[in-house]
Order: sequence, then structure tokens, then C-alpha cells
Amino acid sequence: MTSKKQFKLVLAIETSCDDTSVALVTDQDHVVSMESQNQDDIHAPFGGVIPELACRNHTMRILRLLDGVLTRSQVSWEEIDGIAVTSKPGLLGSLLVGVSTAKSLALAFQKPLIGVNHLEGHLHAPFLRLDLNDPIESKPYPFVGLCVSGGHTSLYYVQKFGQYRLLGRTLDDAAGEAFDKFGKLLGLGYPAGHVVDRMAIKGNKKAFNFPRPLNKSGELNFSFSGLKTSGAQTVKKLGEIGEGVVADLCASYQEAIVDVLIEKLQFAMKKTKCSRVVVTGGVSANSRLRAELLNLQAQKKAQVFLPPLKLCSDNAAMIGYVGLRLLQAGKRDKLTMGPQAYMKVAEL
Ligand code: KG4
Ligand code: ZN
Repeated sequence: MTSKKQFKLVLAIETSCDDTSVALVTDQDHVVSMESQNQDDIHAPFGGVIPELACRNHTMRILRLLDGVLTRSQVSWEEIDGIAVTSKPGLLGSLLVGVSTAKSLALAFQKPLIGVNHLEGHLHAPFLRLDLNDPIESKPYPFVGLCVSGGHTSLYYVQKFGQYRLLGRTLDDAAGEAFDKFGKLLGLGYPAGHVVDRMAIKGNKKAFNFPRPLNKSGELNFSFSGLKTSGAQTVKKLGEIGEGVVADLCASYQEAIVDVLIEKLQFAMKKTKCSRVVVTGGVSANSRLRAELLNLQAQKKAQVFLPPLKLCSDNAAMIGYVGLRLLQAGKRDKLTMGPQAYMKVAEL
């Protein structure tokens, strides 16, 4: 097993939060096979992820998903060149399930192992191909990357693969969390981002004037707690409301979040003099955000890279993309590797 070995196919595992996912990814950025399962129904009654339940359910599901990926793709262990797994950041117990599984497989089948940063995975999700007929994205670097999910809202300047500079991040809540908390107040279930998105289509985005926090020129950090409070106060003041008002609330609240995200992206593009942008993470599935980004592209203000909807939220394919490149570069982790729940802010 030398570092010069060619890595054509890796098996990847993602279990950092409440999605269990296993995938096979090639050096041609193709997702040969992927099986994922979320735990939304399990955590919905609590209105948030319960770490112990997340970890327990990963344990119950991961081997079935692994078996599904191998059976469906008819790939044998001999064909797999390495194993990639999300090792940081995330919920400790959840990460532990993926990392222990990956280490056991690496040991049993004598495959090189590599731990992958979850955020680095998200930043590369747009460059994967679900279909072999899709074109390979060449030289995407440098780009401005906005990672926007239930746990993160961070802006990076990605000079090249492995070289990341944090430009800004949320000082309190993540954008996805702001969607989820507002949806919960409106009785839209958990997680609520996609429901707010759907309701907003029928609503008037100018019906309510929600704040756009930290939106002064050039500021690259985010803050969503003030918007969340304003949303809660508005809902409380309105009392009993019908579906039409809920739709207006969703459209107006969503517009505030989308405005902030688009504005910050533009600040970041200006600051870095880079018009190539990647927007990724669960919230990048938002239809209004995607429309505004495509609008920027149509106006030739940006070249936009978005993951396909299937790869916006947590998935193993993005971990495979990064893992394969790290292995190609000769990087390896030892079987003593452990999960790392938290990271220093600037570390990626
Ligand atoms: O990336 P992800 O699956 O997990 C984390 O790492 O957090 O992101 C989940 C988040 C949730 O907050 C969910 O409400 C949000 O992404 N989300 C959306 C949409 N789809 C998922 N937010 C707004 N609009 C959507 N269409
Ligand atoms: Zn994520």
C-alpha cells in the first residue's frame, strides 16, 4: 500500500448529525451508488435533534445501508481502493458510529482510511456527478463558498483544494436553525425549512418587514437571532392566524434570510475579487435562494455552482469526493483516529 497508488473508487460514510449515508464515488466524480436515510420522523416530536437518539439510530441503520450500496452497485471489496469517513465536526456519538464502522472495514479489508471534514465535503458537493452523462466540472477554483445548513452558516474563500480561508460566519444561530425555529412556531413540523419554502410560494414577501441583521456594507459575519426574535414576536402578536397569513409570514421571513445570504455573498465576491460562488448545505435547497442565485448568474454578476437537490443536505458522496483527493495526495489516517466533535472556528 504505497502513497503512489491510484485511487479510482472509494467507499464513503457520513453520520455527523442525523443523516446516515453511505456512497461509492469514483475519481471521475461520479456517484456510483448512494444510500441515505434521515431521522426526521424520530426527532420531529422533540423539535430538534436528540444526540442519543441520533447515534442509536445510526447504529441500527448503517450496516443495512452499506449492504444496499454494495449490492445495488455490484461492486466487490477488491474494487474499492480506500475508505473515507466524516471525522469532524458533528455530534460526538453520531460521528463515532461512522468512524468506528469505517475503521472496522479498513482493518478487515486492509484498505487505506481517511477522515474528512464535513464542511470541506459540503463545499465540494456541486462538483459531483449523479449521472455519468453530466459534464465533469473542470478547475472550479478559486471560489467563494457559502455553507448554509441547520448547524452552519459560514463563508470561505477557497483558493484551491485544501486551501480555505474563513471570511465570515454566524455569530449566533445558523440560517437553517432560523428557518426551523420559525416553522416550529407556525406549527409546520421539524425540520421546517422545506415547508416554509413551499408555503412561501403562495405568500406575499412584502407583507411583513423582518429585519436583515448585520447587513451593513462589507460585514461578512451573520446573525440570525434578532430575526428569530422578531419572527416570534410577530407571530405572538398576530394570535390566531389562517393559512394565507402563514404563507405571507413564510414568504416575508424567507425573504429576509435570502436577502442577507445574497448580500453577504456579494460582499465576499467584491472583497476577494472572485465571482465564482458555491452555495451548499441544506438551505441551498431553498427555491427562492436558488432563484436569486441564478438571477445573479443571468446578470453575469456571478458564476454559480449549486449541488443537485439530492446533495444539498448531508450525504456520503461529498465525503467520498474529498476523501478520494486526500488519498490521491498520499494522506492517510491511522486506525487510532477518533472523531472530533468541535473545531476551532477558522479550522477547516
Ligand atoms: O445540511 P443539512 O441537511 O444538515 C445540517 O448539517 O444541518 O441541513 C438541514 C437544514 C435544516 O435546518 C432544514 O430546515 C434546512 O436545511 N432546509 C431548508 C430547505 N431544505 C432544508 N431550508 C430552507 N429551504 C429549504 N428548501
Ligand atoms: Zn451538513
